[in-house]
Amino acid sequence: MLRIERLSKSFSRDGAPVVAVQDVTLDIPKGQMVGIIGRSGAGKSTLLRLLNRLAEPSAGRISHDGENVTALSGRELRAWRARCAMIFQQFNLVGRLDVMTNVMLGGLFRAGTVASLLKRFTEENRIEAIHALMRLDLVDQALQRADTLSGGQQQRVAIARALAQRPSIILADEPIASLDPRNAARVMEALRQINQDDGITVICNLHTLDTARTYCDRIVAMAQGRVVFDGAPSALTTARLHEIYGVDGIEEQIDETITSTSVPPRVAIAVNA
Ligand SMILES: Nc1ncnc2c1ncn2[C@@H]1O[C@H](COP(=O)(O)OP(=O)(O)O)[C@@H](O)[C@H]1O
Ligand SMILES: [Mg+2]
Repeated sequence: MLRIERLSKSFSRDGAPVVAVQDVTLDIPKGQMVGIIGRSGAGKSTLLRLLNRLAEPSAGRISHDGENVTALSGRELRAWRARCAMIFQQFNLVGRLDVMTNVMLGGLFRAGTVASLLKRFTEENRIEAIHALMRLDLVDQALQRADTLSGGQQQRVAIARALAQRPSIILADEPIASLDPRNAARVMEALRQINQDDGITVICNLHTLDTARTYCDRIVAMAQGRVVFDGAPSALTTARLHEIYGVDGIEEQIDETITSTSVPPRVAIAVNA
């Protein structure tokens, strides 16, 4: 169980406080697949970053299976970060390295800093990487440079790398925002499959409600840092959406803002090239 209690995060911008996440309380049972939706600026990315301690909370507490995550430091904190594998919109692979090596880096991350510094892969790392690539249907691409793959393939490599971390939780921040519908579906199916087969908790920021409805057990909607809906996809009716957002088309709202996200997909691919 991942327990988030009254979690808040504020930033200071030009001397004035900006509240990104405000008083968020959620209990996420092991093995649940949660979709987080909301407009750009709602606090979705900040919430994920707080969960793996890439950002420090201003207030509140996170615990996992009774362990106080907000209090971790040093080696324990690094271990926690390895147990919460992150997947990003821009894939974040090392473009000049081959697919296999990218996946094995997940195993090194798990093993800790010394192994990562030496970049020394064990036989176990290799076997594990091949298994992960088999699951993601990427064995044929194993020796290709990561930046020669399509966006959809790159995101599946990122998922394979996450698996090599042997995570308890996968945190995915808009994993399909740069992909065409067919590749987006493959990536979401892969996440769902892993969630169901391995019992890994998946928390996924999504920009379309339809996707959250199709793949997730639970939807959390955020607005201005707060949770404004938390429940089963079937409970998120049009009437409820209207109430929350004051408009009929949340899709429209969210889609409109997605075009203004900071890193356009094409730039992200070019960076890797
Ligand atoms: N590092 C930061 N410094 C200042 N403000 C930030 C920072 N990160 C996020 N914010 C602000 O926090 C709010 C929530 O941002 P974010 O979590 O990125 O939302 P979302 O992922 O839902 O688009 C926004 O107002 C954003 O500008
Ligand atoms: Mg975001």
